[in-house]
Amino acid sequence: MLAGPGSEARWRQRHSLISVDLAVSRPNGSELDLTESLESTVAIVTGASSGIGHAAAKRLACEGATVVAVARRQDRLDALIAEIESANGRAFAIEADLTDRAQCTEVVRRASTQFGRIDTLVNAAGVMLNGPSISSPAEEWERMIDINLRGLFNLTKVALPHLVESARSSSREVADVVNISSIAGRVAITEGAVYNATKFGVTAATEAWRQEFTQKNVRFSVIEPGTVDTELLGHQQTSTQQRYELMFAGIEKLHTDDIAAAVAYIVTSPRRVAINEIVIRPTDQR
Ligand SMILES: NC(=O)c1ccc[n+]([C@@H]2O[C@H](COP(=O)([O-])OP(=O)(O)OC[C@H]3O[C@@H](n4cnc5c(N)ncnc54)[C@H](OP(=O)(O)O)[C@@H]3O)[C@@H](O)[C@H]2O)c1
Repeated sequence: MLAGPGSEARWRQRHSLISVDLAVSRPNGSELDLTESLESTVAIVTGASSGIGHAAAKRLACEGATVVAVARRQDRLDALIAEIESANGRAFAIEADLTDRAQCTEVVRRASTQFGRIDTLVNAAGVMLNGPSISSPAEEWERMIDINLRGLFNLTKVALPHLVESARSSSREVADVVNISSIAGRVAITEGAVYNATKFGVTAATEAWRQEFTQKNVRFSVIEPGTVDTELLGHQQTSTQQRYELMFAGIEKLHTDDIAAAVAYIVTSPRRVAINEIVIRPTDQR
């Protein structure tokens, strides 16, 4: 099973019924299912070794994409590839530190050389290292800027020509960039200045790119999750972790599959439908 306990099978069953019922016509008269299959497409997913990127990689493989899974922890990527392949999916791992521009270029070169195309880019790699501004190590601020912004920008830049070409030449006539921002990209919070700045930056860049690439049929989407049950909080200083534990006490956190479902909804929507922005909070989160 590629996603959540039993949820994937139920989702697929429900979705295939919807597809049959709501088949729509293209301007040229041909039929198009509401949900486009990702068969024959290639998706690069960053942050695939854990959390949201890991779930998104599995979900896109489930939808038929060949997934290129990117992160630094090769052992985690190997386990993901094995899981996808054991469910008859297709996946390939590339170990890379995306704070290094040359490694971003190499990821795209290897993916496009190996598979001949790139249809989807999911930018999920990121870190959150919040804390009091006077005592926070400047190195932590730089790490956030380097991966949340610089890495996302550099990878997107080198992937763009391939995405434009896939949108131009494929039968789907569309390509996608899905950026994982955050509620922190909409609402600033105390002791989160730099994380907030990076996520506001991701949200802003996504909208600017969206406008720039409308005529090229490359859709840019941003997802802004509230708290999700991942490793993200655990990289922070102990005192900050404790503050977040208190803040989220009593809240039923989102599951990574909840965000992966939004990624799939965006990418499998028909060519004419661009889901620009999705905000997803836990029901209990203010
Ligand atoms: N969890 C939440 O509550 C939440 C809420 C809103 C938004 N988000 C956003 O969601 C995204 C994913 O976070 P997550 O919650 O899934 O956290 P996570 O489980 O810690 O995953 C972060 C991923 O980023 C990768 N990564 C970090 N630095 C990297 C680097 N230099 N080069 C390549 N990959 C790197 C990590 O892989 P390696 O360590 O193996 O390299 C890991 O796969 C982040 O952008 C985060 O800001 C999370």
